[in-house]
Amino acid sequence: MSVEKKKIKVTIAGAGSGYTPGMVLTLLKSDELDVNEIRLYDNDSEKNKDMGIIIDFIIKNGGYSVKILVTEDPKVAFAGIDFVFSQIRVGKIEMREKDEKIPLKYGLVGQETCGLGGFSYGMRSMKGFSELVELIQMYAPNAWILNYTNPETIVAETVRRKFPKAKIINACDMTIGIEEIICDSFGYDRKNWIQEYYGLNHFGWYKSIYDISKSKDVMPEIIDKIKEIGFNTEGLDKSWALTYQNMRKLVKDFPENIPNNYLEYYLYSEMIVEESDINYTRANQIMDGRLKKIKDTVKEIKNNPNLDSIDYESDSHGQYIVDIATSLLYNKNNRFILIVENMGAIPNLRFDATVEVPCYVNSKGIEPIRLGFNIPDFHKGLMEAQVASEKLLVDAHFENSYQKALEAFALNQTVPNALVAKKVLDEFIEANGDYWVELR
Ligand code: NAD
Ligand code: G6P
Ligand code: MN
Repeated sequence: MSVEKKKIKVTIAGAGSGYTPGMVLTLLKSDELDVNEIRLYDNDSEKNKDMGIIIDFIIKNGGYSVKILVTEDPKVAFAGIDFVFSQIRVGKIEMREKDEKIPLKYGLVGQETCGLGGFSYGMRSMKGFSELVELIQMYAPNAWILNYTNPETIVAETVRRKFPKAKIINACDMTIGIEEIICDSFGYDRKNWIQEYYGLNHFGWYKSIYDISKSKDVMPEIIDKIKEIGFNTEGLDKSWALTYQNMRKLVKDFPENIPNNYLEYYLYSEMIVEESDINYTRANQIMDGRLKKIKDTVKEIKNNPNLDSIDYESDSHGQYIVDIATSLLYNKNNRFILIVENMGAIPNLRFDATVEVPCYVNSKGIEPIRLGFNIPDFHKGLMEAQVASEKLLVDAHFENSYQKALEAFALNQTVPNALVAKKVLDEFIEANGDYWVELR
């Protein structure tokens, strides 16, 4: 029986992001969704207009009959829409660069979502994302917010505390990325998989990967292949190739589970610092890569009236969020690994932790699975320290508390002592200015 397509209106918040073309292409190519309007919302009008030019080209070139609206006005952006896909980066790439470089100055991990850089970004996102949710609730109280904005655990926890009734799903594409590289490297199809995974965002482990085409858990053989052969990193940029090389090391050192690659920042902090170049971090690579590509593409479109293609494709990052929207809309009960309040999903971890676990998504929202086993002490111990430090940071935001922020920074597992934690905190307060709430 064919299901009637539902007409939907989608707003992309943080539309200036280089992920927008892939997301829009996935939306447009969807067999199940009938998107009749896409609104691009960004608070940087230059970035928004640039993306408007690219999306307009994609729509006209593909012959789609979809209305596109480019706006910096939240009322225009959100009134009457069904979904908001959020990918705002509060402080943009310039602040990401500081998140990465300031900790490195003190010999600490400098990263977008992990360690103290992640906390700096977290303080900004708590403020900026809360403002965004408030606007969405004002103009589109019934819309679903599908959120990619990082750092996801901190953002999810903040929204839960401040807007307990918000219709929001927090998703990270990293597990998809890990699964895809496993499939590409060793010849599997993740469509056949039922995964058991637990953790916090960018801080988790696979417990098993049941492959329905083989009627067995294939994780042990995948672990052997990672150890013996390693990942196929052909076509990846240098930093992602290095990430998967480090992930192989994680698997060799801790061969019981497949880890989330982001654990490298906590378990191999010193090695990561040595591998980093304070003069050219990931932010600089993005400036010279993804961000430059947007500008180049806009120029190409403007300069060439006969242009027939641009270098953007639908991708798994976009597919993931579109699949979640589809499962919500059509009550499909598909399984996704999502970020939710624990509430017993991981039985031996505190109830109020924000965890990442498999969930079913239907028209009512999210139904997380209950793992049904206790996680091992090694993982539990690491997670407990991480949960506590992230919660302290969220407390610091809501209570304007310097003390709580300092405790969060000192407890972070990339930090060797409280003296350096304080120095980095003070420098981040200075660098972030009004992007953070005032800490007293
Ligand atoms: P980017 O800086 O290139 O784009 C983000 C856009 O957000 C910019 O155009 C900026 O002007 C806009 N923006 C910032 N604050 C805003 C606000 N308050 N309202 C409206 N727009 C605002 O960033 P990017 O590298 O493309 O990443 C986008 C976001 O997606 C980041 O938060 C990133 O961490 C996140 N991300 C998450 C995942 C995941 O797995 N969850 C994966 C990829 C990217
Ligand atoms: C993965 C993670 C995201 C992160 C992104 C960084 O997709 O899941 O949370 O934002 O990598 O990628 P970038 O290319 O911006 O360094
Ligand atoms: Mn992520």
